[in-house]
Amino acid sequence: MPGIAIVGTQWGDEGKGKITDLLAEDASAIVRFQGGNNAGHTIVRDGEVYKFHLIPSGILHEDKYCVIGNGVVIDPRVLLEEIDGLRRAGISTANLKISANAHLIMPYHVLLDTADELKLGKLSIGTTRRGIGPAYADKALRLGIRVQDLLDEKILRKKIMAALESKQQGLRELAVRRRKLKKDGETDDETVPDDRIDLHSITEDYLSYGHRLEPFITDTARLCWNELDSGRKVIFEGAQAALLDLDHGTYPFVTSSNPIAGAACIGAGVGPTDIQEVWGVVKAYATRVGSGPFPTELDDEVGAHMSEKGHEFGTTTGRPRRCGWLDLVALRYTVRLNGTSYLAMTKLDVLSGLETIKVAVRYRSREGAVLDEFPYHQSVLHSVTPEYEELPGFAGDITACRTPEDLPQEALDYIAFVSDFVGVPIRLVGVGPGHDENVWIQKQG
Ligand code: GDP
Ligand code: IMO
Ligand code: MG
Repeated sequence: MPGIAIVGTQWGDEGKGKITDLLAEDASAIVRFQGGNNAGHTIVRDGEVYKFHLIPSGILHEDKYCVIGNGVVIDPRVLLEEIDGLRRAGISTANLKISANAHLIMPYHVLLDTADELKLGKLSIGTTRRGIGPAYADKALRLGIRVQDLLDEKILRKKIMAALESKQQGLRELAVRRRKLKKDGETDDETVPDDRIDLHSITEDYLSYGHRLEPFITDTARLCWNELDSGRKVIFEGAQAALLDLDHGTYPFVTSSNPIAGAACIGAGVGPTDIQEVWGVVKAYATRVGSGPFPTELDDEVGAHMSEKGHEFGTTTGRPRRCGWLDLVALRYTVRLNGTSYLAMTKLDVLSGLETIKVAVRYRSREGAVLDEFPYHQSVLHSVTPEYEELPGFAGDITACRTPEDLPQEALDYIAFVSDFVGVPIRLVGVGPGHDENVWIQKQG
């Protein structure tokens, strides 16, 4: 059985959680390989809504391993909250496995992540303020603290001290800045420290997290190899999406990890030949949370339709998501970046009721040049005007559709247009948030 990667093809929130839960039915392990609790993955089962930030979206299948791979950055406080929430809901976490090599998000990472929001001379990225960027920065600086360090008090204390040494100055400046902003009435942010961060209390807190997490800590790469070698199916669940990729996305308006399929190898510890299938998840339109270019963004009643009907508010931060038409120039780019085998198109039901549906098929640069490809230069992307193909819309409630024959012809034409344009089959179409609210275009063989 193959390794299968499931990844986002836009700016996140495509519905990866639902698709992972669905494709996990015949898998033996579901593995998160990057990102942290900046992710918010939703699964709706029997009317119950589950939102996961760190726990892989396979957790409702209690017989499968749910793995948090080495490439994830873990806020242990948040992870323990999720574990407790699952236990309260009667869902077993017995098969949850956490990589000993995964890096930890520390309280100072969260504090430093607020710095750009406080405009400390930086661009405002509009991050989720979960400490993701600073945690990955420490990993690259070799100042990171790993899950395995939680199990040794002496090492933990030493490493926190080393990591803090380089940050005290920045944290102090942040505190001063915050006091000023508060005085001027410009922020009521409570997450920024007033004073120095306390080494002793962080160490104590993290040791206690370590005690609770110890039973879950495993050599997760080996676990993945065993499953793959035994012919069982392993799903690698992406968080965020290709246009937020640190290398290939709309830098600097990106996250600090690589959400593309190739990163599953690094973030889980498997080889490229272990991944045989890549599923790209694409929303039937486009959304983005936070700052950065978004050529097809709509600031009109159609955008409002998408926002309202699609309930487009962030799963993690509750921020309204920016909405716009599906951008096929960008999708063709991300499909290629991911080596996509199949697409799953979600939220087609949200487009119902629109007279026509537009898709961007090329860009026009400020100088008037026609751009068929996603421009590599950031300044060009910031100033392009999308050119659209306008397709007939469809009406009525399609959430009860289960076969292609049930769908309006215009919806089928839309699916076919997107698929032909990007050159990848759309195998699955979401017509509602529920587990069974799907149309298989061609049943998985
Ligand atoms: P993820 O981060 O990619 O897992 O996506 P999110 O969970 O952040 O956001 C996707 C939202 O769309 C969730 O509220 C899902 O329940 C919902 N959803 C997923 N698929 C569909 C669909 O086909 N139709 C509708 N209406 N909602 C969907
Ligand atoms: P899922 O997995 C949508 C966005 C943030 C911000 C940028 C950087 O649910 O699709 P970060 O906190 O990562 O440093 O923020 O990335 N972002 C997401 N947007 N869905 C996500 O995850 C996101 N994770 C991060 O809004 O613009
Ligand atoms: Mg999300």
